[in-house]
Amino acid sequence: MSLLTIMPSGKSIEVGEGTSLLAAILAADESINHKCDGNASCGTCHIFVQEGRKGLSKISREENEKLDSIVGVGSKSRLACQAKILGTENIKVELLGFGSGF
Ligand code: FES
Repeated sequence: MSLLTIMPSGKSIEVGEGTSLLAAILAADESINHKCDGNASCGTCHIFVQEGRKGLSKISREENEKLDSIVGVGSKSRLACQAKILGTENIKVELLGFGSGF
């Protein structure tokens, strides 16, 4: 289990190993875009991981290619649908309020 904290609301939930950040964020009743339903093809689930990046699955080639095409991507960027929680550390993510990945 990892504790996932979602900014800017500050809501925290316990998340089991293997859960995607997208599924966890939706389970916490937070709103996040996910137009392609988790296929790494829309980029609308782009978020920043502020803490605990090592507690997430590695970035795949598909995710990397999609991130490369999105405006506003930085070193903390992940696609929430592709990043799976490993259960090794607590994680803090930041939902982005601007229209990213369209
Ligand atoms: S939901 Fe489309 S890339 Fe994540």
